[in-house]
Amino acid sequence: MTAPATPPLIRRERDGDVLILTIDTPGAPVNTLAPALGDALLSVVGDLDRDPEIRACVIASGKPDSFIAGADIEQFLEFRREQDAERTSRMGQDILNALAALRVPVVAAIHGACLGGGLELALACRYRIATDHPKTVLALPEVQLGLIPGMGGTQRLPRLVGLQAALDLILTGKNVRAKKALQLGLVDEMVHPAILRDIAVARALELANGTRRPVRPGRGAGATGLLLDTNFAGRGVVFRKARESVLSKTHGHFPAPLAAIDAVRAGFEHGMAAGLREEAKRFGELAMTEVSRQLIFLFFATTALKKDAGVDAPVPAPRPVRKLGVLGAGFMGAGIASIAAPRGTVVRLKDTDTARVGKGLAAVRDVLQEQLRRRHVTKQQFADQMSLVSGATTYAGFGNADLVIEAVFEDLDLKHRVLREVEPALAPGAVYASNTSTIPIARIAQAAVHPERVLGMHFFSPVHRMPLLEVIAAPATDRQAIVTAVDYGRALGKTVIVVRDGPGFYTTRALAAYLNEAGLLLDEGAAIDAVDRALVEFGFPVGPITLLDEVGIDVGGKVGRVLAEAFGNRMTPSQALSRVVEAGRTGRKGGSGFYRYDKTGTKGGVDPTVYGVIGHAGAHNPIPGGEIVERCVLAMVNEAAHCLQEGILRSPRDGDIGAVFGIGFPPFRGGPFRYIDTVGAEEIVRRLEELEGRFAARFRPAESLIDLARAHRRFYPAEGRPV
Ligand code: NAI
Repeated sequence: MTAPATPPLIRRERDGDVLILTIDTPGAPVNTLAPALGDALLSVVGDLDRDPEIRACVIASGKPDSFIAGADIEQFLEFRREQDAERTSRMGQDILNALAALRVPVVAAIHGACLGGGLELALACRYRIATDHPKTVLALPEVQLGLIPGMGGTQRLPRLVGLQAALDLILTGKNVRAKKALQLGLVDEMVHPAILRDIAVARALELANGTRRPVRPGRGAGATGLLLDTNFAGRGVVFRKARESVLSKTHGHFPAPLAAIDAVRAGFEHGMAAGLREEAKRFGELAMTEVSRQLIFLFFATTALKKDAGVDAPVPAPRPVRKLGVLGAGFMGAGIASIAAPRGTVVRLKDTDTARVGKGLAAVRDVLQEQLRRRHVTKQQFADQMSLVSGATTYAGFGNADLVIEAVFEDLDLKHRVLREVEPALAPGAVYASNTSTIPIARIAQAAVHPERVLGMHFFSPVHRMPLLEVIAAPATDRQAIVTAVDYGRALGKTVIVVRDGPGFYTTRALAAYLNEAGLLLDEGAAIDAVDRALVEFGFPVGPITLLDEVGIDVGGKVGRVLAEAFGNRMTPSQALSRVVEAGRTGRKGGSGFYRYDKTGTKGGVDPTVYGVIGHAGAHNPIPGGEIVERCVLAMVNEAAHCLQEGILRSPRDGDIGAVFGIGFPPFRGGPFRYIDTVGAEEIVRRLEELEGRFAARFRPAESLIDLARAHRRFYPAEGRPV
């Protein structure tokens, strides 16, 4: 008996003189540039060079909606030394160099995601055709994993589209659609998917016959771009500016963009071979960095979350959400409506008076119009989306809502009232979600006749930008309601974690512990800007005091009170915050907070008069940055560990994703639980105990941490795939 033959990774097919190569990794949903595919490609390239009958070649994908989704990221975790990664990069470069040097022209026929190594492969082809389908996106996203393109991308891209456009793509890792790719010169042609193959074959022959030469309009931004690329001094300016901009955005925490600039520069200054050498060397170095390991972990964690229904098997079918009712057309309500309409959901907004409804609708329009302005949607699509959203001051139209999201003021009595009012109007089986950020769902659900349909859907502001949704399951919530919220949240493009009910759930609680500690530092006389600076240096996008000004000091004060009631001395509010709240300062929205704001809301320096409000003449205690970081970060990390041990969190993975995507924990540190693993649980416990000795019980280490330290264990495996 013979074993069934494994289907080849690359199917070969002749169309006259053209060889069509279809990449189709058996059994995988998408193609990735795994080592086996590299080998297969090399062998095809060798055969092609030897076969005189073949005059041209087309490379396409056998997968429905993706060309090549990138490198096989799992192989990156196998690297033990820089040299391993550098060698892998060199091998990839060699394969693509061989492809680029083929005697016959090769055309890349791109439909679907063409990312990372996939785009580098396309760049090594002589001609690129992309379909005009929305799923067709091109990008070099390696920096998002703490790496740089390692198969010639840093060399071929600038040579194709010009220095500035190439740096923009490589340093951000952003996606471009086919239309933009065509404008940049990244692809030569854009066609409808139905004719992709035929056009690719025709172009391959034309290139072979010499009747077509690629026109490359995209080199740089017109004449200026060309001048900058060819002029030594001009290039120097571009590289310097790029470096400065990276450093100001990343505070030096992300080495990959800087390495990418060096690799591109080496290619410009010393030629392609030197550029490729530099690229491989830097790829090797980056692959072994902690930053890259953490970013790769986050990639795996988010991918795993996408498959997590939020409840254990057997998973009930979610209720499809076609109609959404939103209670409260304020900041959050309007934000939720503005992401629901583009997904085709019919949205009904309800508020107390027509002026507020009108304001909410205008806010939705603003968000959607921004998409129109950026040409992400057409005028027709914009009009269609707006036509899905309507508003009222009554519950008319709520009877056929599949899901209702309540986003009225953070007030339990009010939340009870609106729930009592709307519930009789709802269809049986409709799900009711509160967007509360603090109040336990079970308390809200006390007003419900059907508490099993009530849960929390905690969105973050601004809703259209923030990637996280925290779904809160109360003890009475039924499983179908949970999967409905998770499924719909995902349809809205969010990364969804499911947490158990409790005051502040997970994200608000972890954030509150951190903000509270920052407030206590101010009580001790620390300078406001010193506290912010230290935590930005650690990697938070903004410091905690700036964050309080942003979210609203009054909001922070309210949250603080609720959590202090629940957790006692671990969350006793700082005097600084209480006094600033009492003084009526609300932060940016009120034009007066810890910092100064001008009439347009632009932030200035620290408002010196706020120290008088806090109760001292000025910052008088130069607390070292290291101590500021240690106290604030460990307060958050310890609270996260409490949440895990209490079962608020289902896993460390959810805790890490929630902290990074919801409350700004530095992604290159992986999240609170990855941070504990990196520093070591024993060391974290030791530091917490030391702080407990100095500052009382709020720093007492969570039991889960003590257990972990005693057992010399970690939250995640030390090697291999983390989740
Ligand atoms: P907001 O003050 O902008 O909007 C609340 C809206 O609810 C107002 O338009 C108000 O007129 C309306 N409202 C009051 N009574 C109502 C009733 N009986 N029926 C219908 N509408 C009514 O407040 P925001 O910021 O949108 O917050 C709403 C909820 O979202 C709160 O529970 C808050 O804790 C939560 N949240 C807020 C976040 C933020 O950053 N602002 C972040 C996450 C959650």
